[in-house]
Amino acid sequence: MTRDADEAVACTGLTYSFGETNAVDGLDLTVVRGEVFGLLGPNGAGKTTAIRCITTLLPVPARMVHVFGRDAAREAMAVRRLLGYVPQQLSADAGLTGRENVALFARVFDVHRSERAERVAQALAAVDLSEAADRLAGTYSGGMIRRLELAQALVSAPRLLILDEPTIGLDPIARTGVWEHINAVRAATGMTVLVTTHYMDEADQYCDRVGLMHRGRVRALGTPSELRQGLGERRGAKATDPLPTLEDVFRDVAGSGLDDQSGEFRDVRSTRRTARRVG
Ligand SMILES: Nc1ncnc2c1ncn2[C@@H]1O[C@H](COP(=O)(O)OP(=O)(O)O)[C@@H](O)[C@H]1O
Ligand SMILES: [Mg+2]
Repeated sequence: MTRDADEAVACTGLTYSFGETNAVDGLDLTVVRGEVFGLLGPNGAGKTTAIRCITTLLPVPARMVHVFGRDAAREAMAVRRLLGYVPQQLSADAGLTGRENVALFARVFDVHRSERAERVAQALAAVDLSEAADRLAGTYSGGMIRRLELAQALVSAPRLLILDEPTIGLDPIARTGVWEHINAVRAATGMTVLVTTHYMDEADQYCDRVGLMHRGRVRALGTPSELRQGLGERRGAKATDPLPTLEDVFRDVAGSGLDDQSGEFRDVRSTRRTARRVG
C-alpha cells in the first residue's frame, strides 16, 4: 500500500519487544517532510528502539513503518538509501583520519567513485572539519567527533537525517555547534530531521515539533510552544505568569512514572560514560 510521500516517517501502531519488555508499545508517529522532529523522553522510554525500527536495523512487520512512502519491511534497501543515521554509540574509528572515516561511509553508501572525493570534502566542510580532516579522529575533541559522525551521515546526501542523542555528553558550546551545523545543512538541502534527546531545553530551541515518549508510546505531541501553553491553560495560569517548560509538560504527562524509573539519574551516569569514551 502506498502511503503519503509527504510523510517522511510514518509509524502505525509500532510495537517491538525484547522478551517480556515492550520497548516500543503501539507507537503512532508522523514526521512531516522538511521538519525537525524531536522524540523526547528519559532513558528507557523506547527512543533508540523506535529509531532502530525506522532505520531497518531491527526487523518490523509490514505496514508498521514507512519512510517517504516506502515500507521498511518490504523495501528495506530503498528505505536505507533515503536516510543518514548518527547512532547513539560512537561510530567513528579513532585510528583513521577524519577524511578516511567519511570516505569509508561514502563507499558503504555507494557514493559513485568519481564523486567520492568531492562529496567527502563537502561533508567535512559542512561540519567545519576541513582543516582537521587529515588528523587521526583519536585526537579530536568530543564535539569534533560528533561533527565527524554528522559528516559520515551526510555524505550520502540523505533526504532524512536521523540522530540518536547527538549532543549527549557535550558541553553547551559544542552542543550549539552540532545544532548549528545540522540547521545549516537543512537550510541548504531541505532535508528532514528526526532527532532524539533528553535535553528538553535543546528540543524547545531547535525542534519544530516534539513527541514526548514514555513507556514505548508518544504521550503528547505538538510544537514546543503549543505544549507549554496547553499546560499553562490547564493549570489556569494568568497571562503574566511565566510559561511552564517542556520539562514541566513532560512531568505532567508522565506523572510519577518518571520518578519510578529514576530516569534522570541513569541519564547522568550514561552521559558521563559516553563523555569519557569520547575524550
Ligand atoms: N538489546 C536489548 N535487549 C533487551 N532489552 C533492551 C534492549 N535494548 C533496549 N532494551 C530495553 O528496552 C527499553 C527501551 O530502551 P531504549 O529503546 O534503549 O530506550 P531509550 O533510547 O529511550 O533510552 C528499556 O527498558 C531497555 O532496557
Ligand atoms: Mg537511547
